[in-house]
Amino acid sequence: MARRGGCALLALCGSLAACAWLLGAEARGAGGPAAGARRRRRPQEDGISFEYHRYPELREALVSVWLQCAAVSRIYTVGRSFEGRELLVLELSDSPGVHEPGEPEFKYIGNMHGNEAVGRELLIFLAQYLCNEYQKGNETIVQLIHNTRIHIMPSLNPDGFEKAASQLGELKDWFVGRSNAQGIDLNRNFPDLDRIVYVNEKEGGPNNHLLKNLKKIVDQNTKLAPETKAVIHWIMDIPFVLSANLHGGDLVANYPYDETRSGSAHEYSFCPDDDIFQSLARAYSSFNPPMSDPDRPPCRKNDDDSSFVEGTTNGAAWYSVPGGMQDFNYLSSNCFEITVELSCEKFPPEETLKNYWEDNKNSLISYIHQIHRGVKGFVRDLQGNPIANATISVEGIDHDVTSAKDGDYWRLLVPGNYKLTASAPGYLAIAKKVAVPYSPAVRVDFELESFSERKEEKEELMEWWKMMSETLNF
Ligand SMILES: *[C@@H]1O[C@H](CO)[C@@H](O)[C@H](O)[C@H]1NC(C)=O
Ligand SMILES: *[C@@H]1O[C@H](CO)[C@@H](O)[C@H](O)[C@H]1NC(C)=O
Ligand SMILES: [Zn+2]
Repeated sequence: MARRGGCALLALCGSLAACAWLLGAEARGAGGPAAGARRRRRPQEDGISFEYHRYPELREALVSVWLQCAAVSRIYTVGRSFEGRELLVLELSDSPGVHEPGEPEFKYIGNMHGNEAVGRELLIFLAQYLCNEYQKGNETIVQLIHNTRIHIMPSLNPDGFEKAASQLGELKDWFVGRSNAQGIDLNRNFPDLDRIVYVNEKEGGPNNHLLKNLKKIVDQNTKLAPETKAVIHWIMDIPFVLSANLHGGDLVANYPYDETRSGSAHEYSFCPDDDIFQSLARAYSSFNPPMSDPDRPPCRKNDDDSSFVEGTTNGAAWYSVPGGMQDFNYLSSNCFEITVELSCEKFPPEETLKNYWEDNKNSLISYIHQIHRGVKGFVRDLQGNPIANATISVEGIDHDVTSAKDGDYWRLLVPGNYKLTASAPGYLAIAKKVAVPYSPAVRVDFELESFSERKEEKEELMEWWKMMSETLNF
């Protein structure tokens, strides 16, 4: 097991050029208490220390998991915060750093609002837990890591967290540290794709991948925070299938859409995948006893929880949020994302962290398992070459997914009978019927014939026919 001492880490890391930045000097302008000012550590359980991790401690904790489980993990960064802190990700996979054809990719993102601290800590604990159980040979976890590429980003807003955490005393202000260092609320900062899809619903137009070919516009948009840009690139570069964005301030699993069609403040706003989203949200809430408790009083006396059902809610039925990350995932990529509110208090006392872990551990793991539902497979041509960007549509659901680079696709669905169609420009579309159980995902592959092949075939047939008719003289 890796020691946490800075010297030991530096010595180990010294030989690994890749991690020089990880343990190097503090990020530009990223103050925070130096190692010397650190509090006494709380007792650990299995290497999990149930305490708040400031930025240097977060880095250390992730490095420690990586060193302990080096064969199945990797640390990388998707970019930097405004003040220069790395947006670190711990990846768990049997092939770290690579997309394995057919293997779905999952992500957890925490602490997007810097003062909502529980998610950040739970993700650090989760990384350590998955690594421990993998090493112990826990079959559930071993299978999960072998069949899924899991990306864990404990903090999307490390600057906001430092601001929130540096307030003295246990009582933290409700807003301090919510935004990034520029004062931007990251969960209102994404391109508002709901508005586009609501227009397309009426006037016709795409129902998915609405940012296609707009990467440049994202980069040139000066209103987007560096954290937002970094995560948009991440979403668009990796074929994520499922994800959750962890928040705090309430206790509920929230699913799309987050923005109302009419512009009113509250209104149930169905997305085409409402059934599977309800099921995904329940897969989280049902393992969390306080969250799913129907008799739980609202977090604050006057809160309106009337939209909550067994610890879940449609986002817009609760309150309308434009420009959020959850709907952005659904409308710009193949990734289905929910938003989980983990705690009534945004920055609860450190002693309560262990309880939050107990309440959420099974939910966090159950939710990753959801990625293995619905239908999955490959789209290829008749020679077996992958067809990327093929469209997979489901009859009756107005939201298509597309195949990834290797022709692999994943389509989350609740149990039922479906008709799936795979199509791609220049190919003949193929439809297949499939019966989907709760899990695991059913494999359905498509082999598409290109129009040119079809034409050649037809020409060959015509020639044969001509020859035959000439020979037999009819
Ligand atoms: C293996 O991990 C699962 C998922 O966290 C857990 O429910 C189970 O108790 C673990 N098994 C053992 C033997 O610890
Ligand atoms: C698939 O579509 C994306 C986005 O439009 C594009 O960047 C990529 O080059 C396409 N890939 C292929 C193989 O056509
Ligand atoms: Zn939040």
